[in-house]
Amino acid sequence: MDVPNTSGTSDRKVALVTGASRGIGRAIAIELARVNYDVMMNYAANREAADEASVAVRAASTREGVRVATCQANIAEASDREELLQKTRQQFGRLDLLVNNAGIAPEKRTDLLDATVESFDQLLDVNLKGPYFLTQAVARWMIEQRTSGEIGDYHPAIVSITSVSAYAASPERGDYCVSKAGLSMMTKLYAARLANEGINVYEIRPGVIATDMTAGVKEKYDRLIDAGLSPIKRWGTPEDVGRAVAAIATGMFPFSTGEVINVDGGFHLRRL
Ligand SMILES: NC(=O)c1ccc[n+]([C@@H]2O[C@H](COP(=O)([O-])OP(=O)(O)OC[C@H]3O[C@@H](n4cnc5c(N)ncnc54)[C@H](OP(=O)(O)O)[C@@H]3O)[C@@H](O)[C@H]2O)c1
Repeated sequence: MDVPNTSGTSDRKVALVTGASRGIGRAIAIELARVNYDVMMNYAANREAADEASVAVRAASTREGVRVATCQANIAEASDREELLQKTRQQFGRLDLLVNNAGIAPEKRTDLLDATVESFDQLLDVNLKGPYFLTQAVARWMIEQRTSGEIGDYHPAIVSITSVSAYAASPERGDYCVSKAGLSMMTKLYAARLANEGINVYEIRPGVIATDMTAGVKEKYDRLIDAGLSPIKRWGTPEDVGRAVAAIATGMFPFSTGEVINVDGGFHLRRL
């Protein structure tokens, strides 16, 4: 689903959410629409899911004439990233929030000693290289928008969705853990670099969330959660993560940058 081209800037805040067709990204887009953002929803291949999600996002907005668009782009590819931003510029004219959400798990969980270069490359390309360079391009655009002074009261932000795997070692999916640890460092780097440019940068670190990604390991996590994996004994929902992004998007953390927000039912607490 596309929206008609609109040139120039408007007074409406715009978010770009990667991987917004399903799961956590879809819920983030919905929560952003609820707090009056227009949303560019990126996806990789699943057009049907993206179209369905865009209808839900539109329905979530209370704003008259909310603008929602979808854009297919593989964030691991430089040319796709460029096109995604070009389309965002053409269709919305401004950008206030980037949410680096798109990510993949390894096709197969494999012991560290049998792990393959192919899986490592694929995971690092999508989960780290893509967001790293998308953030770079977005940061340049945000600085340009800020310098031009065309948008009044402009407080852009960048959010990346990492995982408890950024610090919890799972030797049967080392590539995923390394990619998320890298993304976590990326947040610190951009937070340090962009503070003087008026751009705050945040990391949201989800625990076990019920989505397509975790559907194949549902029974395992049912057991672990029941046994007390996290102090709050339930699966996380995509909405739990969406609401945390909405809190950032509505400017609730103006004096915080490089901050990690755990959305994990307390998984990160060390307990005795
Ligand atoms: N679920 C969890 O328990 C959990 C926990 C911690 C962190 N996370 C992280 O949260 C994020 C979302 O996870 P999820 O569980 O919602 O996953 P999901 O249900 O598998 O959805 C993944 C989304 O990312 C998109 N995507 C995949 N590869 C892409 C690419 N190369 N370029 C652009 N978009 C791409 C997919 O698009 P298509 O629909 O077109 O395939 C889909 O919209 C990921 O970064 C994941 O690592 C998840």
